[in-house]
Amino acid sequence: MYLDIEMLLRHLWVVGMTGAGKSSAYCFWILNLLKLGYPIGLIDPNNDLVTDVVDQLAMLPKKRWEQLVVWNIRNTVSAIGLNVVELKPGEDAPTKFAFLASVIAKIFAADPLITARMQRVMMHTFWLLSRFNLTLVEYQKVLTDKNFRMQLVALLREEEYELKDYWLHEFTDNPKQVTDWTQSSLNKIGAMTANTSLKRILGQPRSTLDFRLLMDEEISLLVALCIGALGEPGKFSESRKLSRT
Ligand SMILES: Nc1ncnc2c1ncn2[C@@H]1O[C@H](COP(=O)(O)OP(=O)(O)OP(=O)(O)O)[C@@H](O)[C@H]1O
Ligand SMILES: [Mg+2]
Repeated sequence: MYLDIEMLLRHLWVVGMTGAGKSSAYCFWILNLLKLGYPIGLIDPNNDLVTDVVDQLAMLPKKRWEQLVVWNIRNTVSAIGLNVVELKPGEDAPTKFAFLASVIAKIFAADPLITARMQRVMMHTFWLLSRFNLTLVEYQKVLTDKNFRMQLVALLREEEYELKDYWLHEFTDNPKQVTDWTQSSLNKIGAMTANTSLKRILGQPRSTLDFRLLMDEEISLLVALCIGALGEPGKFSESRKLSRT
């Protein structure tokens, strides 16, 4: 099927029964776009479409290969780092981390009754992690190990009163309440960091992939998420269930 570039500026939904040729059509379009020099971003929940594209890259001129990043989430040899709580220059911490917390709440369809407090806990935990160049892998330790948490809080400067005040005056001091306050976010973040592949990616203090840079430099990105190997959807639905309790 012929696809006009104008059409690609809109949403496109390809539907058809299994074996109808959906993936083959995507593969054909992607290779043609790459050949014409258009940067593309492909996030494949499995691995087959990325593999099909990569298998046929030889048909492209060599200079196009140089503008391409292929990322297989299961690659254990050279795992790309993605520290989602890393603060880039010019970014505002409360805005960035409130947004990240709301995205996570949405992904897990968290119960609205507990969402507001959970998002506040997540936002301030992300902020604290980021302040000390830590990662999501240390999320659990911050919330379950009071000594560790207080050591970090003690290192905050006077002018960081907003973050400091939350941990010293708003976050519960009652050990019994801590579980209530933290369980809903711990089961969500825990579901991500418990997976070995994701832990390797999310646990690196420095991100080695910069999506902004890829877009600015017009570099294509092909990601094979291999969702089955990430423990989904079992862990995901389990977390959703827990978040409603
Ligand atoms: N236009 C075509 N003409 C002939 N064969 C085709 C055509 N498009 C795809 N095929 C063949 O049909 C088979 C299935 O195609 P494809 O994997 O693209 O289907 P799909 O719609 O993605 O299926 P699924 O939903 O199972 O992923 C492949 O062997 C492919 O080579
Ligand atoms: Mg397919």
